[in-house]
Amino acid sequence: MSQTDGSHRPNQSTVLDTGLPWTGLLGRAGKTPKGSQIRELLAVTARPDVISFAGGLPAPELFPVEEIRQAADEVLRADGAAALQYGPTEGWQPLRELVASRLSRRGIGCSAGQVLITTGSQQALDLLGEVFLAPGMNLLVESPSYVGALQAFSPHRPSFVPFPMDEEGLAVEAVARWLEAERAEGRLSKAAFLYTVATFQNPSGVTMSLDRRLRLLELTRTFSLPVVEDDPYSELSYGSSVPPPLRAFAGGEDVIYLGTFSKVLSPGLRVGYVVAPQPVIDRMVLAKQGRDLHTDGLSQRLVLEFCRRFDPDAHVARLRAAYRVRRDAMLDALRHHMPSGVEWTEPGGGMFLWVTLPEGLETAALLADAVERKVAFVPGAAFHVDGSGANTMRLNFTNSTPEEINQGVVRLADSVRSRLERLA
Ligand SMILES: Cc1ncc(COP(=O)(O)O)c(C=O)c1O
Repeated sequence: MSQTDGSHRPNQSTVLDTGLPWTGLLGRAGKTPKGSQIRELLAVTARPDVISFAGGLPAPELFPVEEIRQAADEVLRADGAAALQYGPTEGWQPLRELVASRLSRRGIGCSAGQVLITTGSQQALDLLGEVFLAPGMNLLVESPSYVGALQAFSPHRPSFVPFPMDEEGLAVEAVARWLEAERAEGRLSKAAFLYTVATFQNPSGVTMSLDRRLRLLELTRTFSLPVVEDDPYSELSYGSSVPPPLRAFAGGEDVIYLGTFSKVLSPGLRVGYVVAPQPVIDRMVLAKQGRDLHTDGLSQRLVLEFCRRFDPDAHVARLRAAYRVRRDAMLDALRHHMPSGVEWTEPGGGMFLWVTLPEGLETAALLADAVERKVAFVPGAAFHVDGSGANTMRLNFTNSTPEEINQGVVRLADSVRSRLERLA
C-alpha cells in the first residue's frame, strides 16, 4: 500500500479506540488529583465578552516584548549553542549571581551558591513538598492560602493545619499556641514547615505586620520550625511602606525564600528562584534533577540579558504605576457599587483583593449568576483547606483596564444584590 492512500495515517477512530481500560489503569495507584478551580474557570472566562477578575495574570500589554526580542537576538548571537545545550541543575551561574546581588539590595544577604534557579516558583513549591513532606506530617498554612501551593503540597498528603488571618496577616499567636501544645504532646517533630505569602498575599492582598514578622522569626528559632516565605509580589508595591521580607531580618537566615521573575518580567519564561541554607538547596537540587534536569537555559539567559541591557527597576516602576491605577479603580468601584454588608481588603500592592459577603451568601453559587452577567472571580473556598470561606472571593485587578474594572464591579454588585434579595 502506498503512503498516499492514507492507510498509514492514524484516523480518528484508531486514535480514540484504545484497547486498554485507561480509567481503571489510572485508578490503580489510588491517586485522584483534584483539578484547580482557577484553571477550569479560566477556560470559561477566556471569552472576550467576560470581564475576568478570576485569573492571576499580569497585564499582557505591559510585557517588554521588544526588549525581550532584542535580548533573544543577542543571546542567540553571542551564546547560542550554550543556550540550547543542557545546563547545570542549580541554574546558570551568571543568573544565580544576578539574583544574589539583586536580593542583597533588598537586604537578603546570600551567596550565588545559596540560590537555586527553578522553573517558576511553582516548581520550588513542588520541590519543597518532595523534600519536607510525607503523609501525616503537619504543614502549617495561612487561611486563606495560595491555591497553587496547596495543589503542589497535596500529593505528599500532609495534614494541613490552617491558621486564620486578619488585617495584620497570619495570626502568629495562634501558631505559637499550637506549637506549644504540640511540644507538650511530644509531636513537634511532625511539623514540616510553615508556608506564608507574607507580603501582598495571594489571595487576600494582606501584608504581615512588622511585629508579627519578628514574632514569627522568634517562634521558628524556639521551635526549630522551618518557614517558607513565598514572595512573588513585594516588588509590586503601590506606595505603602512594606516591612522587609522575613528572610532579610537578623535571625531570618534560616528562612527558605522563594522569588520569581513571573510578576516583574514574564510568567511565560518560567524563571524563579529559591534562597535557602545550603543543606536545603542540596536536597532540592537532587529533587530537581529527577524532575526536569534544569530550568530552561534560554529563558535564564533572556532574563539576565534583559536585566543587563535594560533597566529592570524602571520596568517594575512602570508596572507599579499602571497596577496602582487599577487597584484604585477597583477599590473606588467597590465603594460605589457594592451593597452594604460586603467587605473587602485594601491591598498596598500585589495583584489581588479579597471580598467577604454577608454570611450565608455562597460565592460558588454566585459565580454562575456572575458569569451570566459576564463577570468572573474565584470563589474563596478553594483557598481554604478546612471547607471555610464559602462567602469569600478573590478578585484580580491587574489584568483588566480601569474601565473594565468599573464595568465588571457593576456587574458583580448586581449579582450580589440579586442574591441578597433572594435570601431576604
Ligand atoms: C504566591 C504565589 N506563589 C507562586 C506562584 C507561582 O509563580 P511562578 O510563575 O513563579 O511559578 C504564584 C503565581 O501566581 C503565586 O501567587
